[in-house]
Amino acid sequence: MPQAFPHLFAPLELRHKTLKHRLTFGAHTTNMAEDGLPVERHFGYYTERARGGTAMIVVEPVPTHRTAVLTRGNFRHQDDSIIPHFRKITEACHEHGAVMIHQLYHVGQHGDQDNSFEPNWSPSGLPSYHDCDGSHTMTEAEIEESIEGFAQAARRARESGFDGVELFAAYHALIDQFWTPWSNRRDDRWGGSLENRLRFSSQIIGRIRGLVGEDFIVGLAVSMDEDAPAALTMENLQEIVAYHDTRGLIDYVTCGTGSYFDHHDLIPTFAYPDKLGAPYAEALKQVVRHARVQAESHIRTPENADSVIAAGQADMVSIVRGQIADPQLANKARDGRPEDVRPCISCNQLCWGRRARDYWISCLVNPSAGREFEWGGDRFTPAKTRREILVIGGGLAGLEVARVAAERGHKVTLAEAAPELGGQFRLAGLQPRRGQILELIAWYEGQLEQLQVTVRLDTPLEAEEVKAFGADAVVIATGSRPSGTGFQKALPRLEPLPGIERGNVWSVEEVMGHAARPGKRVLLLDDTGHWRGCGTAWHLAERGHEVILVTPQPMAGAELVRTSADWALRQRLAALGVETITDAAVREWHGDGATVVNLLDGSTRRVDGDALVLATINVAETTLIDELAGSGLEVHAIGDCVAPRRANNATYEGRRLGLKL
Ligand SMILES: Cc1cc2nc3c(=O)[nH]c(=O)nc-3n(C[C@H](O)[C@H](O)[C@H](O)COP(=O)(O)O)c2cc1C
Ligand code: SF4
Repeated sequence: MPQAFPHLFAPLELRHKTLKHRLTFGAHTTNMAEDGLPVERHFGYYTERARGGTAMIVVEPVPTHRTAVLTRGNFRHQDDSIIPHFRKITEACHEHGAVMIHQLYHVGQHGDQDNSFEPNWSPSGLPSYHDCDGSHTMTEAEIEESIEGFAQAARRARESGFDGVELFAAYHALIDQFWTPWSNRRDDRWGGSLENRLRFSSQIIGRIRGLVGEDFIVGLAVSMDEDAPAALTMENLQEIVAYHDTRGLIDYVTCGTGSYFDHHDLIPTFAYPDKLGAPYAEALKQVVRHARVQAESHIRTPENADSVIAAGQADMVSIVRGQIADPQLANKARDGRPEDVRPCISCNQLCWGRRARDYWISCLVNPSAGREFEWGGDRFTPAKTRREILVIGGGLAGLEVARVAAERGHKVTLAEAAPELGGQFRLAGLQPRRGQILELIAWYEGQLEQLQVTVRLDTPLEAEEVKAFGADAVVIATGSRPSGTGFQKALPRLEPLPGIERGNVWSVEEVMGHAARPGKRVLLLDDTGHWRGCGTAWHLAERGHEVILVTPQPMAGAELVRTSADWALRQRLAALGVETITDAAVREWHGDGATVVNLLDGSTRRVDGDALVLATINVAETTLIDELAGSGLEVHAIGDCVAPRRANNATYEGRRLGLKL
């Protein structure tokens, strides 16, 4: 059989190593360290991806200095005690044929003193773009201390069994703060001319090479942010990369997108096009003669990765979130089974969304991410006894439990009341640019078919029918429904909402399910700050409705800030003419408009509208749970019917129960 994705699955020489193919797992802070040490959670996470076939793993950054600590889960800096812990990881991943690289970072002025307990150091004392702190202008001695920090970190990496290091000079970190004229205003030998500005990185690499010898890979992570006026241009970047390449300082260069200046396209959500970083890799490939060039950022799929290599845009491709979502992406692609790859939906909800809150990362579609050591990876052991399982509800929780139970050998029937699978998540998939959700549901459909799960659509079940079915275990995953009362968190004693009985009031589910006739001018009350409300506002505005979004929060999409999806959303809403009334709630509905209260000063105003759409917190659909209580059946409840929540809780509870049944 011909090799699937032949361009991607061709080997590649990289200094003293040969990558078995060109698909890598790029650097990303999993934030899993405990007391600064690599732990079992790391071990399970990285070895699962090595086992899944990735050719090269860039393990998340170690801070190179005490002033470089950024997150609670960073590794210990300047401390050899990490070496034996890393050795376990590098040895285990090497057994699966992965080349192991360690990223080394110092984010300079954009540090976090709440975690480092040190002032941020930078070339010229400019402020952090993470918070409201300024930074300290490094002295000559401090520059020397920082260079030595990088070199010692590389030595430690080598002693930990890594095959190389990747210097973090991306997103306007310390190294690119030296490169960038805007942030390097020095008039000593570290600033001014190109050669002076590149002295810091050149000396770091020279010092590293002196310590680690020739058989050690040195890569460079850079990035391109076209939207940030202070950042380097592509011409600048080409000149800098060529400088390092000509002098034989680097073995590869990888180019990310975005920067700390705005962060919104650094880990691009579904609002951004696929293969976002490929043109930048292509531009760098034009100027290097020795180093390999890696493309990254929203490359997502093996098909995209293969096309980037085939087009000559890059020598290798990193897919980060795609391999968080499916650790076996590389092997499945190699074996010609791309349809079996569980798709990342570019939501950032549990990867960056958890890292942004300083938790260890996981994944909405793959709850085993970060739990591999507890759950035996993203794989399954057969159940001791084959049982008959009836799953009621084909939303995310029901789909995941049905899949996992069937993977473990159980006989599974999935009954769904609606004519299609997916539940409320399918409605989310109908919002603008969120079609990747429908791809995920299609993946579940394909997996259930392969696993011979009996799927019964249009099958709402009554308690008596459930009892008559005779399953060994029943899983209730019936989801949630709109409260219908107009309850808002900001006005807790105003329930039901006065005037709700006057009509023209719809839920977001009714709007997205095409059951609503909301008229031209729509008031959308968003009590969630998440996609249910904001995505529906976007959907309505795209269809020509005049939309006024009322939110108790200080901005539209406040809950999406942690996913870095909020900026692109607000840009889009603004372009579509959506008016946002912040710090506000609806006090009364009049049938053709609302009394809107300003929560800051209590003032009210009337806002006209043909309809009121409610994005308020749902209530659990517990009918079957209540009716089957005391029935003697083995009954489990998962997902929104237990408590209405975001989608990641549905996949998590589905997986957890599926592993136990
Ligand atoms: C949770 C998370 C943390 C990240 N941390 C880093 C990091 O520490 N260093 C780095 O160079 N890139 C980091 N990135 C960026 C990724 O390397 C990559 O550029 C980005 O995820 C886009 O690629 P993808 O679409 O393949 O995920 C991080 C990404 C994620 C999702
Ligand atoms: S949480 Fe979302 S964006 Fe992150 S890896 Fe999982 S599916 Fe992809």
